[in-house]
Amino acid sequence: MRKQLPNPYIPMLTEVVSITSENKVNDIKTIELKFKKEEDYKNFAYIPGQFAEISLIGKGECPIGIASSPTEEGTIKFTIKKMGTVTSGFHNCEVGDTVGIRGPCGNGWPMEDMKGKNIVVIGGGFAFSTLRSLVLYVLDEKYRKDYKDITVIYGNRDSGEVLYQDVLEEWDKRDDINVVLTIDREEEGWTRKVGFVAAIVKEVAPSPENAVAIICGPPIMIRTAVAELVELGWKDEQILNSLEMRMKCGIGKCGRCNIGNKFVCVDGPVFSLAELKKMPNEY
Ligand SMILES: Cc1cc2nc3c(=O)[nH]c(=O)nc-3n(C[C@H](O)[C@H](O)[C@H](O)COP(=O)(O)OP(=O)(O)OC[C@H]3O[C@@H](n4cnc5c(N)ncnc54)[C@H](O)[C@@H]3O)c2cc1C
Ligand code: FES
Repeated sequence: MRKQLPNPYIPMLTEVVSITSENKVNDIKTIELKFKKEEDYKNFAYIPGQFAEISLIGKGECPIGIASSPTEEGTIKFTIKKMGTVTSGFHNCEVGDTVGIRGPCGNGWPMEDMKGKNIVVIGGGFAFSTLRSLVLYVLDEKYRKDYKDITVIYGNRDSGEVLYQDVLEEWDKRDDINVVLTIDREEEGWTRKVGFVAAIVKEVAPSPENAVAIICGPPIMIRTAVAELVELGWKDEQILNSLEMRMKCGIGKCGRCNIGNKFVCVDGPVFSLAELKKMPNEY
């Protein structure tokens, strides 16, 4: 008998198993979800860089990048900044609450194409979630041999905004990853770099040789960091970015997220700079 595919419009049900506040001002939280049905968890096979449409009854639904790595088995994680109706709903969640989830959606980071390459991850602010997923994935013992040198440059306004302190500490202990943390201004007790991300990219000067750069963050950070990479000889094809457009269906049906003939929810959200340059400047 033919296998019945899950209906992409019907959310699968999960339960909140933990909630972690990620920053000092407490407007960014990571929620950890466990699927109520084992079968749904198996169907939710994802790669780093994909997102999901997550929902709360009575509040609505919104697209959120998957912060966990497929290598962290059993649950999935989302890091959510409080913005409006739906995201505030998630901030008021408690352990045991029910959350709907549709997905995984989008293309994700090109994990296959990146095999055998040096990876330079450049992140700014709270847009580090799918980068967390990617770095945990490539560091996992099952996949580490598939990728070469890993450099992470991660910047924030101040030390209170640095996400995922627990995993950053673990990465610091390893000698097969170079983690460069920076904040915008000097701060008492801060022993890492000080300066904007673009300036740190210039200082670290990652080589474009057999490498790919993955960039997520505020538009100004992306523009300035990309300019430094181009100065260092990086080509548009080597620079990847994830777009955050307004979305509804997440599955290429409603036309809410189009840029030219591309559906960001299906063809993206990950695009190379070379691809973005061919698209109308509507993002
Ligand atoms: C592919 C993708 C991945 C995303 N990943 C994350 C993530 O990992 N963590 C996270 O916190 N958010 C993420 N977002 C943004 C998130 O979807 C929006 O913040 C959310 O939809 C806002 O819903 P709301 O009901 O709380 O806000 P609303 O009540 O709809 O709006 C409140 C405010 O948020 C702004 N806003 C609404 N939607 C967006 C949007 N898509 N982008 C920017 N601003 C918006 C509005 O202009 C308004 O000022 C992602 C979006 C996309 C498309
Ligand atoms: S969100 Fe509906 S087509 Fe992309």
